[in-house]
Amino acid sequence: MSDGNSKEQQAKKSLADLFKQMVVDEKEPSPAEPPKSMDEYKFWKTQPVPRFDEEIEKEGPITIQTVDDVRKEPYPIHSSFEWVLLDLESEHDLDQLHELLYDHYVEDHDAVFRFAYSKDFFNWALKPPGWKKEWHLGVRVKETGKLVAFIGGVPGDLTIRNNDIKSVEINFLCVHKQLRSKRLAPLLIKEITRRVNLHNIWQALYTSGTVLPKPLSTCRYGHRPLNWTKLYECGFSSLPMGETKASMVAKTTISNQTKTSGWRKMEEKDVEDVYKLYDAWKSRYEITQIMTIEDIKHWIYGGDNQDGKVIHAYIVEDENNKITDFISYYVLPFSVLENPKHKELGIAYLYYYASEAGIGKSPNDAESQELLKKRLKSLVNDAMVEAKNQKIDVFNALSSQDNTLFLDDLKFGAGDGFLHYYLFNYKAAHISGGIDSKTNEFLDNNKVSSVGVVML
Ligand SMILES: CC(C)(COP(=O)(O)OP(=O)(O)OC[C@H]1O[C@@H](n2cnc3c(N)ncnc32)[C@H](O)[C@@H]1OP(=O)(O)O)[C@@H](O)C(=O)NCCC(=O)NCCS
Repeated sequence: MSDGNSKEQQAKKSLADLFKQMVVDEKEPSPAEPPKSMDEYKFWKTQPVPRFDEEIEKEGPITIQTVDDVRKEPYPIHSSFEWVLLDLESEHDLDQLHELLYDHYVEDHDAVFRFAYSKDFFNWALKPPGWKKEWHLGVRVKETGKLVAFIGGVPGDLTIRNNDIKSVEINFLCVHKQLRSKRLAPLLIKEITRRVNLHNIWQALYTSGTVLPKPLSTCRYGHRPLNWTKLYECGFSSLPMGETKASMVAKTTISNQTKTSGWRKMEEKDVEDVYKLYDAWKSRYEITQIMTIEDIKHWIYGGDNQDGKVIHAYIVEDENNKITDFISYYVLPFSVLENPKHKELGIAYLYYYASEAGIGKSPNDAESQELLKKRLKSLVNDAMVEAKNQKIDVFNALSSQDNTLFLDDLKFGAGDGFLHYYLFNYKAAHISGGIDSKTNEFLDNNKVSSVGVVML
């Protein structure tokens, strides 16, 4: 280990300070520290989730029921409201969902940035193979028809250590700002659970920035500026001490040209080969999503909608036309409010990837880990080159998967955002999310997380 004042460490530190809202206080407690006692989780303490102090000895479901045990009618809701199933094939419902999430989903503290969801994004995120309208659950005001809350579920079977589990992924939980703190969220969670249970599915995966009982894993965000000047002009990045604008631009500039030999955009004909790579790669992790060929076609290739600009996938083909690697990222821009110069920030998120360099290899094998590191740096670099050429301004990646092999070297700054992973009705021992449990820094020395599933 080099000493704490080495030039290299200082350079890393200034990159970590790129994002002004994301500066880390090293004395901060663990991000997974509960903000209140279990007893104060009035809703969650009634649900089949592990308690914070629970030692998990045997992994598996917490409660076991049959479909006959499940309530057949929706939970009662206040008489001014009604349950609604959104029809994401209809422009009207898509517009309503867009409006709700645009105005009321996560935004930064200064309310300057908002997620700019598009219809293409919803179609990709909420309509994978096997999607069900019953799991696109909203609450409307009876009198006006206004959509005031939403929760979404999609099929997403999992492998946790060696167990395959039928599961859903729950996402886009949102309650209108004027209806907050009225216990609508627990009602939405109970109602979607009921609707999922009616399909004989008893487990769910979900993520949140807030601490709930009990995180299965915690990952940290990393941010790699591709257009530092624009990020600075939007107030997204600040100028680190001791730097100038010119020095920051110089530090973060990347080439316009990809450099991995055999690199090209993924085509529909590659779906099966990408599926095989993904399937063989997944055993590197302790939690992964089970994907069929159809799932790969949707989630990685983008399905039949090739006009949308949501998911981008690239492959590497060797001289014998064998596909040896793939990598993908999805795009979800921010709207920038009240900025004279910029209306939108292009934001890309690293999604799934796989490489022959890591298939059948253990993360504990130093030699193969070094080769994989080299390979991933090349793949992620080229994915960022593509993203930059598509006018993406910042490239985000979590500390999940094998990402800690390249985050520091490719100049991702550690953000102050953490993402906790949760399982509903399933006990499992903690899974490393790629951060050091004492310092919250990305793991180093070629150590990696064991989280292989990427949630939107
Ligand atoms: C998250 C959100 C739906 C919670 O609604 P709310 O009106 O603040 O809270 P409610 O009064 O309805 O319910 C509170 C309960 O929901 C739980 N809760 C809050 N956020 C939650 C989340 N993201 N996932 C699951 N449960 C959550 C709380 O812990 C509390 O339960 P407890 O008593 O057991 O602690 C709302 O704040 C929101 O729409 N925020 C913006 C969008 C967002 O952050 N969505 C979540 C993305 S992961």
